[in-house]
Amino acid sequence: MSDTLVKSSPETLPADWYWSEDAWQIERREIWAKHWFLIARTQQFDVAGDYVSATFAGYPIFAIKGKDGLVRAFHNACRHRASPLVQECAGHVERLSCPYHRWLYDFEGRLRGAPTMEIDKEEYGLFPIRCEIWRGLVFVSLDLAAMPLSGWLADIATAALRYPLEEMQLAREFTIEADVNWKTYGDNYAEAWHIPTIHPGLNAAIDMASYKIATVGHTLQSHMADARDGGKTDGFWVWRLPGLFFNMYNWGMNVAQLEPLGPRRMKLTYRYFVKDLDPTKQAERDALIDWAYMVAKEDIDICIAVQRNLETGIYERGRLSSVHENGVIQFQEMVASAHR
Ligand code: FES
Ligand SMILES: [Fe+2]
Repeated sequence: MSDTLVKSSPETLPADWYWSEDAWQIERREIWAKHWFLIARTQQFDVAGDYVSATFAGYPIFAIKGKDGLVRAFHNACRHRASPLVQECAGHVERLSCPYHRWLYDFEGRLRGAPTMEIDKEEYGLFPIRCEIWRGLVFVSLDLAAMPLSGWLADIATAALRYPLEEMQLAREFTIEADVNWKTYGDNYAEAWHIPTIHPGLNAAIDMASYKIATVGHTLQSHMADARDGGKTDGFWVWRLPGLFFNMYNWGMNVAQLEPLGPRRMKLTYRYFVKDLDPTKQAERDALIDWAYMVAKEDIDICIAVQRNLETGIYERGRLSSVHENGVIQFQEMVASAHR
């Protein structure tokens, strides 16, 4: 194969990276553990003891509001014999007491009680992780040396300036889980070539001739398209790699976080925000969100089908079009650099 051809139509990532445990271990350590992850909205933390938990890069974690009003995040693992401390996705505790043998922690993660043991409690606080807030959204990072969230989000912050997120209202929040490697989803998000084939409704709404994808290093990808005359929506989609998506429309926005759950499974959390929750526009709003959900589901369905084929062993590597798949090329280069 000549270099020119490789350059103009690079090979895809190897299929086994989409299901092997080895690839997942590299990516959780070298990609996911080094970035920020959207875990919750600040409104989910009303009073001290309110918490939200998640599995991030294979690590069970939780964030909890302290008596001082700050939200902090920790690994969800007791320092006695490693039981999870909180069990639900979200909830409230009066005391942070381990359900296994009742070690007791305060909301700042300090060990306060270890029945029958005389140990130095200062040495057995919960393992902290980074937790920062941006425009009403709570992010965590496993990397204690990670760049501040504001720097990590710098490009997206500029792109999203005209969307007043703090003033917008949450209209709907839901999750989708699927037997799909997170990169199968990423590859799909990174190109619009499939819109006419997979999304007839979206294709009828936006003007595909205006569709553009711009990439920034290994960090950001933005897609934009105008509405067709009389079309349902325009679109401005910004992806902060590896897994945070700001999908902005003339009627509102959807902030989505991708969460890999292992080599063959992923979860997406969608949060739809609108400019106002006027009850007289409820039906119109529901119809738009239902419609956006249908488009999201079309993506998931094709990803599930692709994932099955990636796992059969018949397909090893394909080729990418530098005309239509510049976003896929950027995304796969980011992944490949983590494997080097
Ligand atoms: S594991 Fe938490 S108290 Fe034993
Ligand atoms: Fe799509």
